[in-house]
Amino acid sequence: MASLAFGLLFDLLGSFPRRPGDPDDIDAEFEPEATLVLLESALRALGHEPVRLGSPFDLLAQLGKGELPPIDVALNVAEGTRGRDREGWAPVLLQMAGIPALGSDALTLSATLDKSWAAALVATAGVPVVPQRSLGSAGEAETTALPACFPLFVKPRWEGTAKGIRPSSRVEDRAALVREVARIVADYDQPALVEAFLPGAEYTVTVVGNAPARALPVLQRALDAESGIGLHAVERHLPPGAARPRTPGTLGGALERELVELALRAYTALECRDFARADFKLDAQGRAYFLEMNPLPTFDPSGSFGILAELEGRAPEALVAEVLALGLARLGLA
Ligand SMILES: Nc1ncnc2c1ncn2[C@@H]1O[C@H](COP(=O)(O)OP(=O)(O)OP(=O)(O)O)[C@@H](O)[C@H]1O
Ligand SMILES: [Mg+2]
Repeated sequence: MASLAFGLLFDLLGSFPRRPGDPDDIDAEFEPEATLVLLESALRALGHEPVRLGSPFDLLAQLGKGELPPIDVALNVAEGTRGRDREGWAPVLLQMAGIPALGSDALTLSATLDKSWAAALVATAGVPVVPQRSLGSAGEAETTALPACFPLFVKPRWEGTAKGIRPSSRVEDRAALVREVARIVADYDQPALVEAFLPGAEYTVTVVGNAPARALPVLQRALDAESGIGLHAVERHLPPGAARPRTPGTLGGALERELVELALRAYTALECRDFARADFKLDAQGRAYFLEMNPLPTFDPSGSFGILAELEGRAPEALVAEVLALGLARLGLA
């Protein structure tokens, strides 16, 4: 296979266009330099030449000026900055420019970023979703019928990387619910999603490839012992050294098979391509519920791909190269 000029679209930490009043975690989805270094070495291992194209705004400018360097194929890991279509910005521009791209298309990226729409779509494929309701204001939160009994969980409807989530996201009564909905709407400029609180163990399943897609080993995520929320989501809000991790239960064969089956079903229902990560949490009875699909999972070496590679005893670059090659095969470029 000839060496390909491989365009990379990304949003680097430190480059978020902050506005007055933005919450501290507004840029939490942006990537560290280490992610790009890993992707570049994976692409070189496949014999390709990575070309840093920058953010979706940089791509827009280069296309506008007719100054885009020659690119054979692209990989977008840019999350965009605002709105529920933001992960689709680069894929749409690439499509308009006639450049094939790895990963899911803009429609899947947008429908999955909106957790309410994603839940509705996977539910039609028989994947259990938690009772939920989208609330657009504190006033609605005061009067609307609730999706379940307290405790409830309140999160932004279209954010990732645990943006907007903190220990107070678990609410025990109507007054706390109203406060949390008001905070989400004001800070993140979107509706709040209110869900039944799932107290049980949490798992994440990475799915790769296409027709057939396959799941990589299921990973358990530790919970914060105090709140029962995923520790990764709340630890940045805990005082240093205060985190108390808890990993309830054991991942037996039957549960692992069920999570894999549900992840594959959700991946297919959402028409994901090449790679994605599905998150699940258990209720008090041990039943698994879909939380969300991440078709832009981080390639940061400290994230799931790094952990999965370590389990296999190889470098993250090697695993990521194998995953990217599945996308190239889909495009007829491998
Ligand atoms: N209904 C729920 N009940 C209990 N905990 C929940 C619920 N929904 C979300 N959480 C907790 O909040 C965390 C983040 O939620 P979710 O996965 O929906 O959002 P995200 O910000 O897109 O996630 P990520 O950090 O995986 O990118 C979950 O990992 C889980 O620990
Ligand atoms: Mg998640």
